[in-house]
Amino acid sequence: MTESKIIDGKAFAEKFCGEIAAEVATLKPHGTPGLAVVLVGEDPASAVYVRNKGRQTVAAGMNSFEHRLPASLSEDDLIALIGQLNRDDSVHGILVQLPLPPQISADRVLAVIDPAKDVDGFHVVNAGRLATGLPALVPCTPQGCMMLLKSVIPDMSGLKAVVIGRSNIVGKPMAQLLLQQNCTVVMAHSRTRNIAEECRQADILIAAVGRPRMIRGDWIKPGAAVIDVGINRVDNENGKSKLVGDVAFDEALGVAGYITPVPGGVGPMTIACLLQNTAIAFKAQRKLEQA
Ligand code: GUN
Repeated sequence: MTESKIIDGKAFAEKFCGEIAAEVATLKPHGTPGLAVVLVGEDPASAVYVRNKGRQTVAAGMNSFEHRLPASLSEDDLIALIGQLNRDDSVHGILVQLPLPPQISADRVLAVIDPAKDVDGFHVVNAGRLATGLPALVPCTPQGCMMLLKSVIPDMSGLKAVVIGRSNIVGKPMAQLLLQQNCTVVMAHSRTRNIAEECRQADILIAAVGRPRMIRGDWIKPGAAVIDVGINRVDNENGKSKLVGDVAFDEALGVAGYITPVPGGVGPMTIACLLQNTAIAFKAQRKLEQA
């Protein structure tokens, strides 16, 4: 049995948000960072995220501009709104909540966001800058994972990291960040042969697949750091729904050296990193020095 340390992402994010708020206060002479969040349609999970983002943006001393639009919105109208936000000097960050309704292409919409205001880090310019080692706005969830990892493993050089899931939002940028830390990175996905065996080699295991409890206890190398990005709603025994991760948490306890819980692990860090990206974007647009 390994004594597993549970990484408290909620406490980490609260402290980090406090630090961001303190920095925003020092930036006051230069203005107030502003974040525009665009929500198209009424997906309930997206509505909850957007509300939380708005609340925390204001709590950090920044301006929050919410644009709630009907599910029937045309792609041209959304692109026109983004053009307006690109030109608006009070808006330093733009986030278009995904997923978008089927008549709108996320690729075409993300492509028109000014890369300097792309606080999600989804624009190809930011993805390319990250991949080539240039300063970039980095996607929030992988950035949050990396901060939690660094808090428990300050030097990851030479460690083997396995990332399960190859999305543009999490898996691919996560692999880039781990490479920057000199990890040996394996990307596993739905076509990977013997995925359990790949996972058993991992000193660092990042689960970002969106399949409840897919990663079993015996897939985990004893002492490994396990970061669970999954947020899956499942029905429990008494018919109520609850949130679980991509890792079978109960099985992982006693095997992993470090593990993030769901909820209360990576989730709170994502919004904290969004606030940080908004502050970074503001400073870059005002030509202020980055901390
Ligand atoms: N939908 C789920 N996660 C995200 C995210 O990080 N950013 C945006 N814009 N939409 C999302």
